[in-house]
Amino acid sequence: MTGHRVTTLILGAGAAGLMCAAHAGPDTLVIDHAKAPGEKIRISGGGRCNFTNLGTAPENFLSENPHFAKSALSRYTQWDFLDLLARHRIPWHEKTLGQLFCDRSAKDIIQMLLAEMQPADLWLNSSVEDIRHDGTEFAIRLIREGRPVTVIARNLVVATGGKSIPKMGASALGYQIAEQFGHRLTDTRPALVPLTFNEEIKAGFAALSGTAVDTRITCNGASFEEAMLFTHRGLSGPAILQISSYWREGDRLSVHLRPDQDIFGWLRDRRMAEGGKAIGTHLAEILPRKLARHLAAELGLSGNLADLSDTALRGLADALTAWELTPTSSEGYRTAEVTLGGVATDQVSSKAMESQRVPGLYLIGEVMDVTGWLGGYNFQWAWASGAAAGRAI
Ligand code: FDA
Repeated sequence: MTGHRVTTLILGAGAAGLMCAAHAGPDTLVIDHAKAPGEKIRISGGGRCNFTNLGTAPENFLSENPHFAKSALSRYTQWDFLDLLARHRIPWHEKTLGQLFCDRSAKDIIQMLLAEMQPADLWLNSSVEDIRHDGTEFAIRLIREGRPVTVIARNLVVATGGKSIPKMGASALGYQIAEQFGHRLTDTRPALVPLTFNEEIKAGFAALSGTAVDTRITCNGASFEEAMLFTHRGLSGPAILQISSYWREGDRLSVHLRPDQDIFGWLRDRRMAEGGKAIGTHLAEILPRKLARHLAAELGLSGNLADLSDTALRGLADALTAWELTPTSSEGYRTAEVTLGGVATDQVSSKAMESQRVPGLYLIGEVMDVTGWLGGYNFQWAWASGAAAGRAI
């Protein structure tokens, strides 16, 4: 085959691709159709990139095979990434729940990865036209800055990410390449995404838009204790983004309001202390006022707390700790942080991230059927799977 020869071609200059380039040999070329590398890193974490989580463990990931991520995660850990930051003198801080962010800017991470991948080459504004494999080498036909080029490579690393935020360059290329070489795809759907209500339900919650409340949300066996936010479309906030990976159309969410509080005990105490006050007034002490008003109306609560028997108080506490909400849809890939599902893990080596169908083909990062929780886990998977492939090459 003739063309521009390299040992390794990495498709995608995102988190996983750049980390892979940092570990692969010097004769490596990274290509991306975007104008700049690491665009999702740049916008992540409100511009400060939640680059890992101190508590990263395989349990924080969803996959058809929950064991698949273990190998890569154990061989490139959150501590390895922190060592890398220390070498580059990048300051960081923990925000909450083990989530680590840059003190200055996510651009620090991009600069660090670009420095680490030296002397590998990076071609931007390059799109893939066609990929062939002759049993030994890959021939990749590209259009680079408007001109056709063929690259010949022994190793091809697919690091093209998931489908979320198409406006930022997300494409289905990685899934197409996997299928071209006989890999199975699992069902994909938007995850870490706000959920929406239909028009009728939305109208009932209109007054709550902008209201946030601490919750524990449960759905399909998963529970997350974080804030929930009512929006003009439906529900958002970290608790909702987390549970969206477990929720399916038609499922109800069970919402435990104020999980830090023994609500029944508190209601009884309030009845004793100030039973002459309206129930809604009491609820507004532990819940945002608008939400307290909404719940009082929804539950048909009127009169004073002193009017309620223990049984009625218990019923009220149960209603507040198992409030049922039924979203109808999600905001989709337009706002989803990640894609749930992807290239099935069963024909990919968990140690090297190499295809077991086509030697020399590697699949890393979000394109794989490995999806992390909110909180830095998805970047840690990108670093770990990228390092695994780079070291194996
Ligand atoms: P990534 O998407 O990073 O890179 C893929 C690259 O491939 C891109 O550069 C793209 O341009 C390129 N590409 C795609 N198609 C191509 C084609 N056809 N030809 C050439 N190039 C192509 N995670 C986390 O852990 N902490 C956080 O704070 C956040 N925050 C966050 C915010 C927002 C708004 C989003 C959308 C996502 C996050 N994430 C996150 C998720 C995280 O960004 C994501 O999981 C990783 O970037 C995945 O890394 P990859 O390298 O697999 O894909």
